[in-house]
Amino acid sequence: MRYMTSEEIRESFLSFFESKGHKRLPSASLIPDDPQLLFTVAGMVPFKPIFWGKVEPVYTRVTTCQKCVRTNDIENVGRTPRHHTFFEMLGNFSFGDYFKREAIEWAWEFVTQVLQMPEEKLWVSVYEEDDEAFEIWRSVGVPERKIVRMSKEDNFWGPAGPTGPCGPCSEIFYDTGVEVPVPEGQEPTPANTDGRFIEIWNLVFTEFYQDEEGKLHPLPKKNIDTGAGLERIAAMMQGVYWNFDTDLFKPIIDRIQEVLNVKYKEDPKKDVSIRVIADHVRAVTFMITDGVLPSNEGRGYVLRRVLRRALRHGVLLGAKEPFLYKIVESVVSKMKSVYPELLDKRSFVENVVKNEELRFISNLTRGTEMVHKIASSTGGRISAEDAFKLYDTYGFPIDILKDIARENNYALDEEGFERYLEEQRERSRKAQGEVEFAAKTGYEGIDLETVFVGYDTLESKSKVLKIKFGDQFVESARDCDCEVVLDVTPFYAEKGGQVADTGVIIGRDGKFEVHYVYSPVEGVIVHKGRLNGSLSIGEEVQARVDEGKRKATMRNHTATHLLHAALRKVLGTHVRQAGSLVEPARLRFDFTHYQALSDEEIAAIEDLVNEVVLSAIPVEIEVKPYDEAVKEGAIALFDEKYGDFVRVVKVGDFSEELCGGTHVKNTGEIGLFKIVSEGAVSAGVRRIEAVTGLNSLKLFRTLETRIRSIRGIFDVPEEQLVEKIQRLVEERKRLEKEVSELKRKAISVEDIIANAKEYGGVKYVAHVFDGVEPEVLKQLVDDLSDRLKGPVLLISKLEGKILFVVKVPKELTSDYHAGNIAKAVAQVLGGGGGGSPTFAQAGGRSVDMIPKAVETFEKIVRKEV
Ligand code: ALA
Repeated sequence: MRYMTSEEIRESFLSFFESKGHKRLPSASLIPDDPQLLFTVAGMVPFKPIFWGKVEPVYTRVTTCQKCVRTNDIENVGRTPRHHTFFEMLGNFSFGDYFKREAIEWAWEFVTQVLQMPEEKLWVSVYEEDDEAFEIWRSVGVPERKIVRMSKEDNFWGPAGPTGPCGPCSEIFYDTGVEVPVPEGQEPTPANTDGRFIEIWNLVFTEFYQDEEGKLHPLPKKNIDTGAGLERIAAMMQGVYWNFDTDLFKPIIDRIQEVLNVKYKEDPKKDVSIRVIADHVRAVTFMITDGVLPSNEGRGYVLRRVLRRALRHGVLLGAKEPFLYKIVESVVSKMKSVYPELLDKRSFVENVVKNEELRFISNLTRGTEMVHKIASSTGGRISAEDAFKLYDTYGFPIDILKDIARENNYALDEEGFERYLEEQRERSRKAQGEVEFAAKTGYEGIDLETVFVGYDTLESKSKVLKIKFGDQFVESARDCDCEVVLDVTPFYAEKGGQVADTGVIIGRDGKFEVHYVYSPVEGVIVHKGRLNGSLSIGEEVQARVDEGKRKATMRNHTATHLLHAALRKVLGTHVRQAGSLVEPARLRFDFTHYQALSDEEIAAIEDLVNEVVLSAIPVEIEVKPYDEAVKEGAIALFDEKYGDFVRVVKVGDFSEELCGGTHVKNTGEIGLFKIVSEGAVSAGVRRIEAVTGLNSLKLFRTLETRIRSIRGIFDVPEEQLVEKIQRLVEERKRLEKEVSELKRKAISVEDIIANAKEYGGVKYVAHVFDGVEPEVLKQLVDDLSDRLKGPVLLISKLEGKILFVVKVPKELTSDYHAGNIAKAVAQVLGGGGGGSPTFAQAGGRSVDMIPKAVETFEKIVRKEV
């Protein structure tokens, strides 16, 4: 047996089965086209309808290497050699073509001839009653003692999901020879030991179909479904016991060591974390590539759990900031040649992962601290109540809590936690029940039907079938708020995000203003509003929808479809509608996307929609069976319910959606489409608001008026407005700076006074400034000597020169002379000047001499000179 890389193993498997007449098909998506399953869990999943006999196969022999995700054993991942969330399954399939004999013979040929596994290392198992399989294995040369019969629990496979194809199976084991406990006096076999014989290939003889009650029925044809785990075969071919030591994981573990600055195989505890990350980053990368985004339900929730587990283990290894997104690249480079879709989506995946990391890491750190704090105050016990509080209030994931408890030997009351969880579910079920009860409308169970004609017309001649006043049905009504049901109506009842029509219903002696329209039960349309005059059951009326509003709504609805299609074209097919509101004034569209749109993206979306508008494409509406519509690529939304027949709204080959709303006949009617805002609704969901038709014109008028009034204020031509405003903003900044500078100086006046000295009842002060202008200096000196009632000297260093002022209050001029003081000070400073007895201004050069000058001033005041 020679060393084979994972690439060689994959390729030799697929080409071996090609040589046996199989069609090689690429891996299907991880998201199965199967309402029973969240993920593709085995190679056979994409072929379920063929096994089932629901779909005719194009090829009757197929071989694939299928990407798979299983998360049921997620807690074991990283701690055992062979548990994974993401793995690849090699398989060969026969759809009513060959059966047991060929399946077994070829599997044996591949394992012994191509992989060249030594026969003495191989064992097989068969379903206990399957003598036929036993016989075939014997005929290819497996000694009887190495063909182990096993029960239904081990050797019966399927169905994938609650119902579906399944059958007895037969497995091939590789004997690794590792020492494991063996029951006394027995030879070790795959049936009586654990961990020594590794199952490398499962051959399923798919001949049954299991129904809802678990009963088996024969399938129309006998089939083969086999699955060989690539990671396991690689481990055996590469002579290692742990899948994590194969070439499939090596580059990923290398990258983890680099990014997190850790070493694999130094500390067993850290090794678990490294392996968890290595496994989970593969799952995360592949899931997101196939269109799953983190969320709180369904697939998105599974992804979020896997991602967050990886993050927690990163934190255990010391990560303080997002790291997982940096590891994605190692998965892409290892796998891109087999799964080229990874390459296109790489930066998308990195973005999604990084966003989730940013959200989660700080929460995790905080939550973990909380867990330890609780544990240290209770002697290591985490009560159900605390666990639930962490989960419910702080969003701390329960499986992470379980992990922490296990690692630190905390006693966690898991059962109690589950009880709390169940109680919470019960509460929300009840709450929902109450809402449903409260929502009873009085129209349930009445034989009543309204024909909606509003797709084609805005007016109809109708007959009044019911009038409801308060919660009573009445024969007639007059001058009141009430509800009216007609046999035929052009009024659209609010649904699918489109708001209700408004308008009037005109009778012989009354006019009913329709404010709101709804459909309380399937097939009944109720008009709610104000009746002026009277209306009676059986009366002929004219129903008329407000045309202007309805047309505006139709423009917005068709534009919503174009926007949806444009978003998918510009941002990618991960974009899914997450909510929508279509009303006359505007449209609002929520969609899944992980980050804010750039100006360029918004412009590209607007351009695309407006190009379709300008091409004046007819909007085609067809009613067809649901399956047919979806097969043709129409976008179906999960939260909408459809009957067997659906309405498909199609705009050329640009957009196709299932929709019950009202639409324009031609995209040209939409007029200009303009996005007015883009923002976040919640993590991973963005919202766009836009206008069309006359509302776009209105928007431009508003903007124009606004600009005109701004122009009026600034009094410059429009093209100079920006520059003008910029200048004013700068000017304002400068002024603000000046004001604050002045304030600073104002404060320093107080400081200066605080430094004043006294001599024989005379207060005096000297102060030196940097860069204060003469004007300011003069003001300050007046101010200071007024408040001090004594002599003041202020010196300012200004551009290398010295400038100073002296002030003596009038009352002291008999004792001091400002001009003379200035002269003496100027002399010290190497300059000259003089002035009156009360005020003098002078200058100098010798900056070094300033302290001396101050001293001179003080000496003069103290009459020491
Ligand atoms: N469908 C079989 C399995 O998953 C081959 O084991």
